[in-house]
Amino acid sequence: MKRKIAVLPGDGIGPEVVEQAIKVLDAVADRFGHRFEYCYCEVGAAAIDSTGDPLPEETLEACQNADAILFGAIGHPKYDNDPTAKVRPEQGLLRLRKSLGLFANIRPVKTYESLLHLSPLREERVKGTDLVIYRELTGGIYFGAKGRNEAGTEAYDHCTYADFEIDRIARLAFENAMTRRRKLTLVDKANVLETSRLWRELVTKIAKEYPEIEFDCMFVDNAAMQLIQYPTQFDVILTENMFGDILSDEASVLPGSMGLLPSASIGAKTALFEPIHGSYPQAAGKDIANPMAAILSAAMMLEHFGLHEEADSVRDSVTKILEAGIGTPEIQPQVECGCAQIGDLIALNVYDESLNLKKAKIEERVSTII
Ligand code: IPM
Ligand code: MN
Repeated sequence: MKRKIAVLPGDGIGPEVVEQAIKVLDAVADRFGHRFEYCYCEVGAAAIDSTGDPLPEETLEACQNADAILFGAIGHPKYDNDPTAKVRPEQGLLRLRKSLGLFANIRPVKTYESLLHLSPLREERVKGTDLVIYRELTGGIYFGAKGRNEAGTEAYDHCTYADFEIDRIARLAFENAMTRRRKLTLVDKANVLETSRLWRELVTKIAKEYPEIEFDCMFVDNAAMQLIQYPTQFDVILTENMFGDILSDEASVLPGSMGLLPSASIGAKTALFEPIHGSYPQAAGKDIANPMAAILSAAMMLEHFGLHEEADSVRDSVTKILEAGIGTPEIQPQVECGCAQIGDLIALNVYDESLNLKKAKIEERVSTII
């Protein structure tokens, strides 16, 4: 298989984690006989610095012409501390989502047995958590009319949803639920918001087409509680843009490290894959960032290309390394490795899944890899 991938490393730790994901994709290409061509583009603060625009025309064009996009992270402290800045790195990501019609953001949240002790929840509560959030990504309050009155003393952000925007993501979520534990929870605020009432009406109708799926609805405030009280009850969560933004961050801390969680944003054509963590500027260039989220995002890309065995090989390699007690510093592993070493190990294991990761050998092996 031949595929063109637009690579947007972005800011902070983005470039170093993306580099590891590329290493792993190259290993997949080699072992399974595929060809991935990469086209590197600027985005975020890095792009503002060199062009004044967080999403230069050239980058957007390359993304439109690619089969998929591998995205690192964006954000820089110099903008975070200035909410009035006219040009902001985040605008690049929002425009990219809108321009490419990336209407569904998919975030799987799974716990790893060997990392349960890192979860902010008690082990017995979080153990077995395996859910996926389908967040609507190009509508709602994020993209509605916004502004101020003339005096600047009043502001508004409109939340609107059209039926087709709800329908298309709902169908994706139900289809995915069919391949999982067949449970789908719609999260809304239908006791207060009209948009939520429309969501509930339409999604309840679609649910009737999927009688095998256990369907329920939950108010977002309750869902926020349930996620930390009883996370294993969820399988597929479907929700609108803003609720999904907040709940997916809440859910992302359950496994104990943000450095483990991938995401996909899909739409009509080119799909985008990115780790859910931010640019973590304090760690940039220090070789301590966890590249697993970026690598698992690449696995989601492989899945999207229909390369299931290849995606499994990447995911299994990550699990094997974690279970061998190897990782970057934030997971307090038995054997601490740098970002690049973790990339090397996962790539090596993709080449040769019988790779011996015995603790005694690993330090010696890692030092000879690099
Ligand atoms: C996310 C981020 C973005 C969002 C920001 C950077 C605009 O928080 O991908 O969840 O709010 O959608
Ligand atoms: Mn967010």
